[in-house]
Amino acid sequence: MTGTDTRSAAPAISIRGLHKSFGPVEVLKGIDLDVPGEVVCVIGPSGSGKSTLLRCVNLLETPTSGKVFVGRDEMTDPDCDLDRVRRRIGMVFQSFNLFAHLNVLRNLTIAQIKVLRRSRTEAEAIARRTLDRVGLAGRETAFPAQLSGGQQQRVAIARSLAMSPELMLFDEPTSALDPELVGEVLAVMRGLAAEGMTMMVVTHEMAFARDVADRVVFMDGGVVVEQGPPEQVIGDPQQERTRAFLSRVLNPTAVDPAEEVSATPAGAQIGSLHVEPGAVPGH
Ligand SMILES: Nc1ncnc2c1ncn2[C@@H]1O[C@H](COP(=O)(O)OP(=O)(O)OP(=O)(O)O)[C@@H](O)[C@H]1O
Ligand SMILES: [Mg+2]
Repeated sequence: MTGTDTRSAAPAISIRGLHKSFGPVEVLKGIDLDVPGEVVCVIGPSGSGKSTLLRCVNLLETPTSGKVFVGRDEMTDPDCDLDRVRRRIGMVFQSFNLFAHLNVLRNLTIAQIKVLRRSRTEAEAIARRTLDRVGLAGRETAFPAQLSGGQQQRVAIARSLAMSPELMLFDEPTSALDPELVGEVLAVMRGLAAEGMTMMVVTHEMAFARDVADRVVFMDGGVVVEQGPPEQVIGDPQQERTRAFLSRVLNPTAVDPAEEVSATPAGAQIGSLHVEPGAVPGH
């Protein structure tokens, strides 16, 4: 805990004046963002800095300047015990990053035993409960290569959950999946949200963002352009850049996004739309 922070109910994540450069290129240009105990979805064009922002939250990337708090702990304080704070944060990436040589059960128990010092018996009991939670009870002995992409991603989510995180970061968890497998992963995430898990989710799934997010953050060019409830940011965007992005994402073949926006307000179309992964390039 950092001594100077006296807030009584700190947001789960608090970001202040965050800048990040890679060499001469400034990728994050001053981000201020709070994630209270709720679901925040981050949307925006490829290269806008979404992944970099998420990676700065647990200091997988070191900010060039600015502050990042997780609860009351300042991650950017040089004295912060990063390993201790990171244990409270689950992270799920686009690529599942499972241990290929370990079966599902071992994938879920290894960090519990080595990092949290849980007994094997306890770790296995938690692993089985968590697998049940993501709809994979009975798959303990399977190896990652024997599972579909959607199942592997659910194992990856379960592996994070087994560490009893206080909050979860997701970076386009469905972008690498075949379209028919997206739903099962989003369903698990919807379940987590319904249980009250604090989640920061970078996603191109506009229907998910609209239905599940308490708040949507639209990023472009390394800044937060607009944020608010989904019905506002997705349904009735105030900024031209947000309108242009939504128009492109929801209607990728449109010739002139600006005309599309004025002809059909983005919010009118979104209800039935499921944006296919790949409509906007991920990486
Ligand atoms: N390690 C790095 N070294 C140099 N440049 C980087 C590095 N990581 C990211 N960048 C650059 O920073 C910019 C933002 O990248 P970032 O991955 O955060 O974007 P993004 O919004 O997540 O995009 P996408 O939707 O394609 O995933 C890009 O121009 C990218 O090339
Ligand atoms: Mg990204």
